[in-house]
Amino acid sequence: MKHKYHHLLGKLKPYIICHPNTLSALNKDYMGMTVHADHIYNPLLTKDFDFINRIIKMDELSFGPGGMGMPRWVLFDCALIPGAVIGFGIPANQLTSADQALLKVVGDDFVPLSMYIAIPNADGKSWFGHNLSSLNGILKEDLKGLGLLTKYYALGVLKIEKLIGATQWDSAALGLHLKLSPMKLLASHVSIHTHENTLCYESFNFYPEEQVLGDQRPLQIKTKEFTSDLVGIKNLQKRIEAGEEIILISKDSKQSVFHLQS
Ligand SMILES: CC(C)(COP(=O)(O)OP(=O)(O)OC[C@H]1O[C@@H](n2cnc3c(N)ncnc32)[C@H](O)[C@@H]1OP(=O)(O)O)[C@@H](O)C(=O)NCCC(=O)NCCS
Repeated sequence: MKHKYHHLLGKLKPYIICHPNTLSALNKDYMGMTVHADHIYNPLLTKDFDFINRIIKMDELSFGPGGMGMPRWVLFDCALIPGAVIGFGIPANQLTSADQALLKVVGDDFVPLSMYIAIPNADGKSWFGHNLSSLNGILKEDLKGLGLLTKYYALGVLKIEKLIGATQWDSAALGLHLKLSPMKLLASHVSIHTHENTLCYESFNFYPEEQVLGDQRPLQIKTKEFTSDLVGIKNLQKRIEAGEEIILISKDSKQSVFHLQS
């Protein structure tokens, strides 16, 4: 495992928020860590509301600037009750005073620094990835690697084998998602979404830990270059609707350039 992930796992602790009935289905012992009972939160109990308010704050900081902050009712109705929120946190007094002031936390308040939210789909076989947030780059604290570690960890805790997600072609997270698995495009131009350049994908055949968090190199797959401008994503949508299977393998270092399995 790369140093940055060891560093994060050494200082952060995992947490879970979900309806109590969901807990028994989760893998609470994963990656050599057991989620501590104090860090398992119930959205129906007043005593846990302070922690859940910190989730809202984190979402405002990460998604607010992109205009996709989550209303409280969406968090409750579409995530906390039907699904689960999983991430990593730290006691407030281990953060700098500037970070504590930004997050409005004090003393030994347990503070979430990342989250992955997934909701089980009605087919009983797959999940929908609803939110990935990390305060890396927003706080003074060194949190490099936290986004990828959080999604990897949450998929394991939730035992997800098939994941559907939606994201934007210009999202920084797309490169991160592609570190976890190839992405089969279910739609490349979801113009009914808040942002027109939204794609919807399905992930399965997740890569092993040694590849995601370690130094194991990915298998070389034959690919074709694709530029994700509006014309390109509309053309791809036509091909998908005509029945072609389009699989996204990786993101190029050049802006808007991707590699599709050929
Ligand atoms: C996207 C987000 C979760 C990334 O979190 P993070 O903790 O910075 O992610 P990581 O450090 O694990 O980065 C994983 C990889 O993505 C790359 N990456 C992260 N942010 C990036 C950015 N803004 N631009 C380009 N690459 C980026 C990292 O360099 C890293 O690659 P590496 O492993 O080759 O070094 C975080 O920035 C965030 O919360 N953004 C706002 C909300 C959002 O867009 N969520 C995703 C919705 S689909």
